[in-house]
Amino acid sequence: KVIQRAPSQHLGPKYRPDEEKPSATVSTKVTHENVTVLPQTPQLIALLTMIRDKTTNRADFIFYSNRINRLLVEEALNHLPCLPQTITTPVGRPYAGVQFEGKICGVSIMRAGEAMEQALRECCRSVRIGKILIQRDEETSLPKLFYDKLPGDVAERWVLLLDPMLATGGSALMAVDVLRSRGVPEDHILFLNLIASPEGAANFAQKFPKVRIVTAFVDQGLDEKNYIVPGLGDFGDRFYTL
Ligand code: URA
Repeated sequence: KVIQRAPSQHLGPKYRPDEEKPSATVSTKVTHENVTVLPQTPQLIALLTMIRDKTTNRADFIFYSNRINRLLVEEALNHLPCLPQTITTPVGRPYAGVQFEGKICGVSIMRAGEAMEQALRECCRSVRIGKILIQRDEETSLPKLFYDKLPGDVAERWVLLLDPMLATGGSALMAVDVLRSRGVPEDHILFLNLIASPEGAANFAQKFPKVRIVTAFVDQGLDEKNYIVPGLGDFGDRFYTL
């Protein structure tokens, strides 16, 4: 396994001198054109510090991971097409703005991806959300599709695919296969995750270079059990287990 060097950066606004800014480990750089990493702001790094900390309790883990999920959804929405729209304000003046074009839906990879649904619902009122369950087959130890429930018109929608941890990418790649088999164009899929491994990002860039990955952070690598390091442990356990 390759563990990348951890880059460090002074955090804070440009106008402030480096001596007055704390330095912290920031996202590993990736060169794949299809990967968008959130700006490494003090706020994002503080939120990630909370959820990575093994002493953070479940209530805080839920609260802070949800805040990062909101940032991911807001960023992902910036990648959707929009059209110019001029409106009139209450004082009778025109304002040249934009409006979103096209329909969207969420698709969560169960169970951890369901933890990102709330943030999507908060940003997109009454959004349709489908589900995909992929688990390791006991016999072959390869990922296997167990269940899916997708909007009937999924092929006409932009899909925000939700899974908080991109480790090897096995499940997410299979989820993209499922979406493509239902007619969703590869470049209409946005894959949102909190933490990605360089391996997972590279696997996606190789197999589905048109799927846009929106992630908060690219970590250093994977350990022998394919946990992301430094990572945050098992996301589903920390989010769902009391
Ligand atoms: N899934 C998790 O929950 N954590 C990891 O580190 C990798 C995959």
